[in-house]
Amino acid sequence: MIDIKNLHKSFGNDEILKGVNLQVNKGETTVIIGPSGSGKTTLLRCINLLETPSEGTISVGTSKLTFDKDNKPSKKEVITLRKKTGMVFQGFYLFPHMTVIENIIEGLVIVLKRPKNEAREKGLKLLEKVGLIEKCDDYPYQLSGGQQQRVAIARAMAMEPDVLLFDEPTSALDPEIEGEVLKVMKNLSHEGMTMVIVTHKMSFARNTAHKVIFLDHGLIVEEGSPKQIFEETENQRIKQFLSLFND
Ligand SMILES: Nc1ncnc2c1ncn2[C@@H]1O[C@H](COP(=O)(O)OP(=O)(O)OP(=O)(O)O)[C@@H](O)[C@H]1O
Ligand SMILES: [Mg+2]
Repeated sequence: MIDIKNLHKSFGNDEILKGVNLQVNKGETTVIIGPSGSGKTTLLRCINLLETPSEGTISVGTSKLTFDKDNKPSKKEVITLRKKTGMVFQGFYLFPHMTVIENIIEGLVIVLKRPKNEAREKGLKLLEKVGLIEKCDDYPYQLSGGQQQRVAIARAMAMEPDVLLFDEPTSALDPEIEGEVLKVMKNLSHEGMTMVIVTHKMSFARNTAHKVIFLDHGLIVEEGSPKQIFEETENQRIKQFLSLFND
């Protein structure tokens, strides 16, 4: 589904990603962990081209783009690839002046040009999936953070992406309500949604991920099943990092 080869990203003279190779299989949940500043967000933003890689190849589904000094893909190619991914951010970024259902169907109607009633029907199904059908006509300010994040997930899914990307989706939430968001993500994982998730929720990674990736200083140090990373790794850096978490 996703195939990343030799991905480099520099900001000025700082090389943040130093040659990342990553495969994400269809239907699998990949969790990226690693210390602050290791490049997790930058990697996600490169996958959906919110950042332009300095070098490397990114394939999502049938779209493949190559980046180097002399090779910048066209705007059209970038948009085609970006449409295959849906992003869920730490802050939910819902439109404050639109109701929940309007937020969800905005992209469907404006970008994908779907008829409004068809979009609404689809939006309602997605709201049901994230357990918020009764909030359909509320405004974001009337919702808790956890509810807003679930709306943001429904909004990302409405665009029918091949893969959903999550950047610390629960870190702005109280521990009491982050569980409801993690539950929705877990259900999506079980339904076979392809997902790449940056999180510090190690219990989620342990229980839900098919593959765990440890990123440090812009490189993948180790990748493997949750068992391989959480129980069997011999890598001191990973052991030390994991010892900071007790969930
Ligand atoms: N737009 C930018 N311009 C310059 N430097 C940037 C930019 N975005 C990120 N960086 C730098 O890249 C490095 C990696 O940042 P990134 O946000 O990818 O880390 P992270 O692993 O997501 O960290 P955290 O766990 O704190 O979210 C940091 O040193 C950061 O300062
Ligand atoms: Mg980050």
